[in-house]
Amino acid sequence: MCGIVGYVGTEDAVPVLLDGLKRLEYRGYDSAGIAVQTKDGLQWRKCVGRLTELEEALSKHRLQGRPGIGHTRWATHGEPSEINSHPHLDGQGRVAVVHNGIIENYQSLRDQLTAAGHHFLSATDTEVIPHLIEQELANGAADPEAAVRGALKKARGAYALGILFRDQPDTLYAARLGSPLIVGLGDNGYYIASDVPAVVKHIREVIYLNDGEMAVLTSEGVTVKTLDGETVAHTTHPVQMAPEAAERAGFETFMLKEIHEQPRVLRSLLEQHVNDAGQVQLPEVGFSDDYFQLLRRIMIVSCGTAYHAAMYGKFLLEHLTGLAVETDLGSEFRYRSPRIERDTLFVAVSQSGETADTLASLRLAREMKCKVCSICNVQGSTLVRESDSVVFTEAGPEIGVASTKAYTAQLLAFALFSIHVGRARGEITDAYAQELLEALAGVPDAIHYVLERADHIRAIADKHHDGPSALYLGRRFNYPTALEGALKNKEISYQHAEGYAAGEMKHGPIALINEYLPVICICTQTADEVYEKMISNIKEVEARHGRIIALATDGDKQVSTFAEDIIYVPAIREEFSPLVNVVALQLLAYYAAQARGTDIDKPRNLAKSVTVE
Ligand code: G6P
Repeated sequence: MCGIVGYVGTEDAVPVLLDGLKRLEYRGYDSAGIAVQTKDGLQWRKCVGRLTELEEALSKHRLQGRPGIGHTRWATHGEPSEINSHPHLDGQGRVAVVHNGIIENYQSLRDQLTAAGHHFLSATDTEVIPHLIEQELANGAADPEAAVRGALKKARGAYALGILFRDQPDTLYAARLGSPLIVGLGDNGYYIASDVPAVVKHIREVIYLNDGEMAVLTSEGVTVKTLDGETVAHTTHPVQMAPEAAERAGFETFMLKEIHEQPRVLRSLLEQHVNDAGQVQLPEVGFSDDYFQLLRRIMIVSCGTAYHAAMYGKFLLEHLTGLAVETDLGSEFRYRSPRIERDTLFVAVSQSGETADTLASLRLAREMKCKVCSICNVQGSTLVRESDSVVFTEAGPEIGVASTKAYTAQLLAFALFSIHVGRARGEITDAYAQELLEALAGVPDAIHYVLERADHIRAIADKHHDGPSALYLGRRFNYPTALEGALKNKEISYQHAEGYAAGEMKHGPIALINEYLPVICICTQTADEVYEKMISNIKEVEARHGRIIALATDGDKQVSTFAEDIIYVPAIREEFSPLVNVVALQLLAYYAAQARGTDIDKPRNLAKSVTVE
């Protein structure tokens, strides 16, 4: 939610900031702005709308200089407008601030500052920060750094900040509490950003700031400090991501590229975690077999698409480990009175590792003395750093706002984790584990098969995208697939879509069915006990003249007797069919969105990383 970037070094900051913001736009795109130390002093430009608006404004009124800070906004406090855009300034134009997060006590701070004579221009929470700094200086703070520290000690909530002072032309301050922020070290200077991809092409090493730390960057180097001014010894990590990973690589959108990357991502995850003897290796999970044997329960918490992965994980873990498994949404879990104890393993699932509700739930679980394992895509993220153990999904940067490759990687991570825990608990035999792993090995090729039939899926999307709504039905392992298919559709095409457990349809959604409603039915489980049940549910749709689009296994003759359109997928074990089926639904949503002319990578009102509650 909101992206920030900053640079201090030997180059002109403006192109670095604009390029960084382009890569951060997935975090918010209501407005954008930059501030730069120019030869005429501290200057700034802000624009409502996409980054292209800012680029256009800058082509008319050029800025040049260094250091600089930039921001792309997802509005929380105050509508998207020029006045509410970042950077925000103090009353004298001496301090410029970009911020990601929420200053929760901003109203009382604003009241106090207003009483002290400060005049606010915007409706944002952020604007109190430069004014607080200004006030600290007026109160006699020894220097700008001391003023930043003093101001931040008064702010409650979450922030990642980039701060410039007009009177310090070679210094950039950064600070972090609860919102992501990295410091990058490159040949031409030092960088701050909400994530690594924003500056990956410039940097060789990265410092992950901890909560409560600030960094002072000059063109000579970086110092990390506490808010009490003590220098902190920091670890630098080599940047492992190839710069090309953050490019579109010839695809029309990041989302399409990421959909197509899935066979490679899953193949490499399997290669990494299945050894030559056909056993699952998850070294970063770290817990002993004894730990898993004594475990009573698993609680999985996440948000959005990652929640659908959690639901799949529950089905699979129950199926293979004999454990009781519960799931909850991050935003619900933290506000109920969950009964979890030491013998519960808390599993947090998140692509970004920065989702506020997931993190808050994790912290609650830690307070209750649970061990925490996270399934996460981002090394160095807050979630990973606060977990006891981790399964990395290794999908590479996911830039399209709608999650695709991170989702299938989460499903695969759950499959590997379930086999690992099932073996450790003696619930499944080695031979059975190997049978499962052999089936998993077929998943990348099966996805490839679906991708090769993209034109057929596009034709189906072209035919059905027009209506006001669509219903997605699935059962058992594919119930979460139905929810995820519907979510993908509404996120990017804006067609209302609802996912439902097929057996539950007759308790409500059946009232919606008429000769116009597309009903996407997942019935790929030919050899499975729920297949016949699914067929009966589809018959209920047919009897009411719903327009049936079936996802069926190659060679299935039955579905053609009632489906208007069929997407065939290769035969795959039912447990793992969601990894393949969802790819067909991603494409269906993608082409519906394309036909409806939406902005697929940056859908209306959404942000990829939701760092506010
Ligand atoms: C946002 C994104 C979703 C994502 C969810 C959870 O809503 O738009 O795609 O699934 O956040 O994000 P996380 O990073 O925790 O997986």
